[in-house]
Amino acid sequence: MGKGVLVAGQGGSGAARQSALLDDAGIVVTKDGLEMAGVPLARIAGEVGTPVFVYNAETIRRQFRALEAAFAGVPHRICYAVKANSNLAILRLMHDLGAGADLVSAGEMRRAIAAGFAPANLVFSGVGKTATELEETVAAGIGQVNVESIEELKLLGAVAARLDRVTSVGIRVNPDVTTDTHPYISTSHGGIKFGVPHDQVRSAADYIRDHPYLRLTAVAMHLGSQLLDPAPYAEALGKLVALVKELRRTGISTLESLDIGGGLGIRYQAGAAPGMDPVALAEVVGPLAVKAGLPITMEPGRFLVGSAGVLLTEVLYRKHSGGRDFVIVDAAMNDLLRPSLYRAHHEIVEVVPAGREAGPVDVVGPICETGDFLALERVLPKVEPGERLAALCAGAYGFAMSSNYNTRARVAEVLVDGGRAAVVRPRESVDSLFASEIADPFATLSDNG
Ligand code: LLP
Repeated sequence: MGKGVLVAGQGGSGAARQSALLDDAGIVVTKDGLEMAGVPLARIAGEVGTPVFVYNAETIRRQFRALEAAFAGVPHRICYAVKANSNLAILRLMHDLGAGADLVSAGEMRRAIAAGFAPANLVFSGVGKTATELEETVAAGIGQVNVESIEELKLLGAVAARLDRVTSVGIRVNPDVTTDTHPYISTSHGGIKFGVPHDQVRSAADYIRDHPYLRLTAVAMHLGSQLLDPAPYAEALGKLVALVKELRRTGISTLESLDIGGGLGIRYQAGAAPGMDPVALAEVVGPLAVKAGLPITMEPGRFLVGSAGVLLTEVLYRKHSGGRDFVIVDAAMNDLLRPSLYRAHHEIVEVVPAGREAGPVDVVGPICETGDFLALERVLPKVEPGERLAALCAGAYGFAMSSNYNTRARVAEVLVDGGRAAVVRPRESVDSLFASEIADPFATLSDNG
């Protein structure tokens, strides 16, 4: 969400205008409408129902390879940020491409292991890891734990000693740089919850150096998400490299990598420049890695999967009220939260363009809140009930942030690849949403006196 992306609205209409975004997704427009990897999106909507997330495996591979190619001259490893899209099929794809994984919970570790990742290729980041999570991940032999506070570090040391497992630690530093993104996903300036502040890094490193069960293997950062400019990476990484020099002077000789986090942004709006240029990023990161004599770890999420996914939804009704035109669709903020939470822009296109004239509409869902919208004042061709729309760039933080609000079942997920489509998560059944709830918890007790 660079500045422009925050504006929900504006823009023209029709598939032609969105062609750059359709290219980004790996979608082509045929006489049957939009097609992904040779599969008409209308067919998926017809067979699986709506709403449904559809992901393009080849687009994910393309993104991964672009990043690999850009960093070919820089020793590096890519640890996919599982939080962006944690479906096992996506994780398996990343694993098969040779990625490691970046986790924010022990739950994500279980997913990653279920998808085939070796624990040694996992990095556990996050500001509030619980004792239970540290125990589970250390016992599994996790590759690296990125700590974010001295207290967490002490707990990790105690857990590692109790389990008799020497554990590799990264210190996630708060480099105190500013980034141009939405404030909710900017994570590297002073006065926020993330990272060990610069002036506490030395004592954290001393603690690790002197602990028999901890090894300091990485200095880490994560600047924020949806970043389009490499400059803050250069600034922050410069600070990390200076820190590495300082730590080495204190006798630390165990460092194995510089972890630059994730954050690489993508294009969300038709007409916007492409997202982060990985070549430009490698150009600023490479020399600094050389200076430190360390390989790079990166934790991209959105860059790998964001453009590869769409959310298909069906038009239920139209309505004119208070001078505005509404298109009421069957997808809502519980399915795709980003517009409601960040005012994020997702381009919306017809699945089968009908060639009608366009006008400004609010695209809204069935949820009982005025803040439930996919787009406001968006210029869209006139659509009829029963027709389908696709919200683009929904592969990252789409399904992953969905919920059951309003007792709405979470939607199905479909992966397409080489002319084939497979449901990789069926739509939840509504009954399953309350199957474990207990309507009369005290009934038996009082019945029996
Ligand atoms: N590493 C760490 C430590 C992170 O906290 C994150 C994302 C990533 C890597 C991956 O960042 P990415 O490459 O995907 O930008 N829900 C928000 C995004 C939240 C990102 C949180 N941390 C959104 O929908 O825009």
